[in-house]
Amino acid sequence: MTKSYPTVSEDYQNAIEKCKRKLRGLIAEKNCAPIMVRLAWHSAGTFDCASRTGGPFGTMRFDAEQGHGANSGIHIALRLLEPIRGQFPTISFADFHQLAGVVAVEVTGGPEIPFHPGRENAIEKCKRKLRGLIAEKNCAPIMVRLAWHSAGTFDCASRTGGPFGTMRFDAEQGHGANSGIHIALRLLEPIRGQFPTISFADFHQLAGVVAVEVTGGPEIPFHPGREDKPQPPPEGRLPDATKGCDHLRQVFTKQMGLSDKDIVALSGAHTLGRCHKDRSGFEGAWTSNPLIFDNSYFKELLSGEKEGLLQLVSDKALLDDPVFRPLVEKYADDEEAFFADYAEAHLKLSELGFADA
Ligand code: HEM
Repeated sequence: MTKSYPTVSEDYQNAIEKCKRKLRGLIAEKNCAPIMVRLAWHSAGTFDCASRTGGPFGTMRFDAEQGHGANSGIHIALRLLEPIRGQFPTISFADFHQLAGVVAVEVTGGPEIPFHPGRENAIEKCKRKLRGLIAEKNCAPIMVRLAWHSAGTFDCASRTGGPFGTMRFDAEQGHGANSGIHIALRLLEPIRGQFPTISFADFHQLAGVVAVEVTGGPEIPFHPGREDKPQPPPEGRLPDATKGCDHLRQVFTKQMGLSDKDIVALSGAHTLGRCHKDRSGFEGAWTSNPLIFDNSYFKELLSGEKEGLLQLVSDKALLDDPVFRPLVEKYADDEEAFFADYAEAHLKLSELGFADA
């Protein structure tokens, strides 16, 4: 049986060739071939053929794996590789670490080992699985809510809460504001099981980012590496739908550290989904196309209440504030502007307590 390797683009193949040359130079200069071979082997040697988990898939970039007893000292290899890593952002960590091993054998006089690029990072593979699930189940809205309710507990003063996987605990799912969120977690279970190396923290945020993308919204950059916290935050940090602007600023600005612009842009996520009587006590969707991510939330908000649609007190509050209202008008008028600000705000939300850690 012949093996079928993944196909990569010409650009990717060119990047691999160029990277190979840079690696030759580095390994020769630093005399670091042995530790590069160890890096490649310790990355690949975790493979378990029964469960098809572990293996050469770039997970050594995580502090957690570098911290395994058997990997003592492996951070030295990663530190040495950093300047080259930065020059080839398109190459997966998975390919990069294996390429370093192959080049290290070659430059020390060993055999040339054929190298086939195209190993995927688990994140890329998981992203594809999430796209499929969300499209099949039409569950983008609750995935966005899951990501937001996970991240929105961040408190910048105490640096507690935030997008760190604690929604996996029954205790946090049981908070009043999270009513119904267990449905999202149940839907995600089959995919979760396939990616044991991805933290819950990354997984829940990735689901949110993919949900916005597959419903036609902006692409939101995703940076993996969040670690799971061992305990949920206290209850009561998410906003109350019956309150107005002061409360929104209390939660989003004072507690989470976001801006007025972020409040309005993020509220636009209500373009997706609906309220459910048995979850929040409210009933109805904000727009007539709740499975499409567009700027219709702002258009509906400006056009006033309408039979069959819903506006919460916290939505209508955006119309009464001298800073919020012009943004609502801008986003209703210019979808591109909304998408740009939304992507920026969602990225910030998904990285609270992480990006600036
Ligand atoms: C501004 C303060 C906010 C309040 C008071 C609020 C309140 C609510 C309420 C009451 C629901 C209904 C839940 C249910 O009955 O199923 C809901 C749903 C939703 N919220 Fe918010 N929300 C806020 C901000 C946000 C933000 C910042 C996002 C995302 C970035 C978001 C995304 C969603 C989505 C997508 C749904 C629909 C869920 C579904 O259809 O299952 N919300 N929100």
